[in-house]
Amino acid sequence: MNKQTVVSGIQPSGQLHIGNYLGALKNWVEIQNSGKYDCLFFIADYHSITENYDPKEKKEQIFNLAVDCLAAGLDPRKSVFFIQSQVPACTELAWVFNTITPVSELERMTQFKDKASRQLKNINMGLFDYPVLQAADILIYKGVLVPVGEDQIQHVELTRDIARWFNHKYQTDYLPEAKPLLTKSARVMSLADPEKKMSKSLGAKHFLGIDESKEKILDKIKKAVSTAEGIENLKAIYESFLEDMAGDFKPDKMGETKAVMAAGIYNHFASFREKKQELLKNRSYVNKILAQGKKQAEKIATKTILEIKEIIGLAS
Ligand code: TYM
Repeated sequence: MNKQTVVSGIQPSGQLHIGNYLGALKNWVEIQNSGKYDCLFFIADYHSITENYDPKEKKEQIFNLAVDCLAAGLDPRKSVFFIQSQVPACTELAWVFNTITPVSELERMTQFKDKASRQLKNINMGLFDYPVLQAADILIYKGVLVPVGEDQIQHVELTRDIARWFNHKYQTDYLPEAKPLLTKSARVMSLADPEKKMSKSLGAKHFLGIDESKEKILDKIKKAVSTAEGIENLKAIYESFLEDMAGDFKPDKMGETKAVMAAGIYNHFASFREKKQELLKNRSYVNKILAQGKKQAEKIATKTILEIKEIIGLAS
């Protein structure tokens, strides 16, 4: 029997935080290592340029994210790992999907509304069309399982709808229906404002970067709010790193608990830090992996776009 295809992506927009790690990356590595699936993971650089950014920094952000993913355990022998924009068939498919996606469906997307409200001077078409490109990311590889955090569920549901609209319009069953794959920590909350999702865009005190220094981690956890919701969030984080915790979670002794947590989280990433240092010294090795991933992804994507063009009546 053919293995099911798993597809997921992550944006290069600065530091990775424990929300990205617990909600997605850690899961990717486990799924990959299970050997049960065909896995494709990519750096969603085209998505990232829908937000305000500095072009001078982007290349380095992409490279660093590649290093982070590899250091966290993505293995090019087990997964196809590549950069989204290097496989143009994906953006071609997004165009095809644009022609079957109702504008009203995109207007419902909560991430669009949220991001648009944060960049009022840059509400560009790409930001609006973002979920259509995401659907193309998944369906160009015929992905059926999409490991993501909770904030991406709506986009994966739209991907399923787009597949249905496509199959219906063209009287085919060519595109599969994708489903999100969530972890227990699919929604890690901000340290400083636990009613909001942990995210870089909220500012430094809200998130915990996966390669921050011991001092910084302790400082950020110490300053994490200790309201009932804050404690609940810290407890969820504690439980996600349970194996690394050398002490109990004591809600009545948060000072002590926070010190245990900071040490545990820092230790969890010890081998990550080591691998990252090695990879940073070996840029050509990382670039070789990405070039190989591009080749592998392109092979699948080119076949799909040619078949799609045939189905929709264009010359291929
Ligand atoms: P991005 O780069 O914002 O986030 C990468 C992954 O991290 C998850 N995540 C979280 N999980 C739990 N708690 C949090 N606080 C938290 N913050 C982020 C996200 O859910 C995501 O899984 N649109 C995607 C990238 C993308 C993609 C795709 C994903 C582009 N094309 C195709 C899957 C399939 C995004 O912005 O992720």
